[in-house]
Amino acid sequence: MPDEKKTGFSRDSISNTLVVAIGVSLVCSVLVSSAAIVLRPLQEANQNEFRQRIVLEVAGLYDPGVPVDEQFGNIETRIVDLETGQYVEDVDPQSFDAEAAANEPGLGVGIPKDQDIAKIGRRAVYAPVYIVMQDGAPQQYILPVRGKGLWSTLYGYLSVEPDGNTVSGLRFYEHAETPGLGDQIEKEPWLAQWPGQKLYDEQGEPRMEVVRGQVQPGPAAIHQVDGLSGATLTANGVTYLIRYWIGSHGFGPYLARVSSEANDNG
Ligand SMILES: Cc1cc2nc3c(=O)[nH]c(=O)nc-3n(C[C@H](O)[C@H](O)[C@H](O)COP(=O)(O)O)c2cc1C
Repeated sequence: MPDEKKTGFSRDSISNTLVVAIGVSLVCSVLVSSAAIVLRPLQEANQNEFRQRIVLEVAGLYDPGVPVDEQFGNIETRIVDLETGQYVEDVDPQSFDAEAAANEPGLGVGIPKDQDIAKIGRRAVYAPVYIVMQDGAPQQYILPVRGKGLWSTLYGYLSVEPDGNTVSGLRFYEHAETPGLGDQIEKEPWLAQWPGQKLYDEQGEPRMEVVRGQVQPGPAAIHQVDGLSGATLTANGVTYLIRYWIGSHGFGPYLARVSSEANDNG
């Protein structure tokens, strides 16, 4: 150990302590930023695979034994202009981020207060849709939906048959509702009630709803699923987010267009 007096180096001096502290911080920040940059493509790939898996699940097609991207081969991803219901060709469906776009000027719009029943404030002008194809014909249209529950924003996918009205399935993949209460929205016994239900009434008005208690027999039952015991506020959130996204400010124009095409084709 060199003698401190001879070298003039004091390990306890303020300047040396600062040099070491700054040096360690610099090295650590370089390491953390490099890791973030190196891992970003991997994170994006994982997110993409996760989203594809949920889409396959809501379509009833997910097979855990087969790679997700292979199973996704029969699913087309398209971008829709929500106002017109038409496809947009000049936006890359693989990289389009609807949530980020919602907050960008020109790419996002504020939702008028009287229409914002899902309580999300803004949405992107465009939205992705996932179309399950078989022998060149669409079998299901899978739509991203989101809206406020009690504690959190609920993110999910609603799958609709080619008639644009019959539910094929519903899945939520992200929320922070209470385990045992609001998280029933991701549980099978409740989700199993959705397929076959009708989103709209005869006049084309969004009618789908989660009732309080149990669905009672009657003409409205085709638009209803049972309530969530002890979690009516989350359940109401589901009603409102579904009605927003199938409504005229959501995918309403798109679903009207695809259903009229289905009618024209036979
Ligand atoms: C700690 C705590 C967590 C709760 N979490 C939820 C929830 O995630 N979703 C929900 O709708 N209600 C939740 N509630 C209950 C609501 O405050 C409210 O009582 C309930 O939604 C009413 O539904 P019910 O009429 O079916 O009982 C929670 C209550 C407490 C005390």
